[in-house]
Order: sequence, then C-alpha cells, then structure tokens
Amino acid sequence: MSLNEVAIESREPIEIRGMTERDLDEVMQIERMSFPTPWSRRLFERELLMPYAQAFVAVEFPPGKVLGYLCFWLVARETHILNLAVHPERRRRGIASRLLRFAVDYSREKGTEEIILEVRRSNYKAISLYQNFQFQPQGIRPRYYSDSGEDAVIMGLRLAKQTSATSL
Ligand SMILES: CC(C)(COP(=O)(O)OP(=O)(O)OC[C@H]1O[C@@H](n2cnc3c(N)ncnc32)[C@H](O)[C@@H]1OP(=O)(O)O)[C@@H](O)C(=O)NCCC(=O)NCCS
Repeated sequence: MSLNEVAIESREPIEIRGMTERDLDEVMQIERMSFPTPWSRRLFERELLMPYAQAFVAVEFPPGKVLGYLCFWLVARETHILNLAVHPERRRRGIASRLLRFAVDYSREKGTEEIILEVRRSNYKAISLYQNFQFQPQGIRPRYYSDSGEDAVIMGLRLAKQTSATSL
C-alpha cells in the first residue's frame, strides 16, 4: 500500500507547531491520561532545551487547545520517536497520523535515513498506526518497560533518499 492510500487527513481543524513551555499544563494532562508511567514535567522541560530534541503539538484551530503531541530526537541521520499521544476525547480522528506525517516530512527534510521507535507489544492501536506508515518490526527489547515488565517492539521506517510517487 502506498502512502497515498493511507487516510492521514485529520477530520479535526488543527495546526501543528513547536511545543513551548506554555503548552506544558495541557501536555501533562494528556500525558497522565495516556501512559501508565507518564513523563514528568521536568522531562518535557528538558526536551524543550536540548538542541537535538524536537517537540511539536497539534492544536485545535481556533482557539488553540492542545490535542496531541510528538517528541523525537534527531541524531546522526536517525530520528528516534520518543513520545506520541492524543487527548483521549479526540482520538481516532487522524490527529496522531497528522503528527506522524509531520515527523516523517520533517525528518526527510533534515536528511534522516531511518526513523525508529519502541512500542509496547500490547499497544495494538499504536502498532497499527505505525504499520499504516509502513514501519516494520525490527526486533524486541525484552522487559523494556519497568512498570509492567512488558517487551518493547522496535519498529523502523527507512526513508527513501529521493522522493517519488510511491516512496515515503
Ligand atoms: C496511539 C494513539 C497516539 C493514536 O492516536 P489517534 O489520533 O487516535 O490515531 P489516528 O486517529 O491517527 O489513527 C491512526 C491509526 O491508528 C490505529 N488506531 C488508532 N486508534 C485505534 C483503535 N482504537 N483501535 C484500533 N486501531 C487504532 C488505526 O490503524 C488508525 O487508522 P484507521 O483510523 O485508518 O483505522 C492514541 O491512541 C494514544 O494517544 N494512545 C495513548 C498513548 C500511546 O499509546 N502512544 C503511542 C506510544 S508508542
């Protein structure tokens, strides 16, 4: 399936922009509702300061309520997706797909060759999302998540060096 066939258009009127410290109250609310072991506020603050760390929010347009976010590192031609979440009341409307599409485009512009991430083995929603973007399973990190002892599935997407009608 080519990306053109993937339904990535959000049904929400949203815009994607860089995360700032002013977003962190809303981001933290979503984070706590989304993960058994949420990131701390301090961790988000640190991400906002690190030069290789990128953080973006999807905001309602208007009036600007934060609906989701994506954090990744861009190091040595590799993008590592570290965090992605959407407000529970606004899920299944294409917002994560928009954020991921943004990260793929951004990464390619910066010369990334591969995007990688870890996902809980049981997180079929996220795995399905990544499969829509043609991420492939690359291995398992046994008992990666200390809260539950669950394995992580490593998933990767190699980016084509040149864009074409069928490449990502
Ligand atoms: C995973 C998550 C980010 C998806 O966000 P979303 O905005 O609802 O995702 P989208 O609407 O863009 O959905 C894209 C695809 O994801 C998959 N998906 C999302 N929700 C799903 C669900 N409830 N059941 C099955 N598949 C689902 C589907 O493949 C979907 O494509 P489709 O609608 O064409 O079937 C969201 O559920 C979330 O925040 N979960 C908690 C945090 C988390 O698990 N983050 C990922 C960490 S690796």
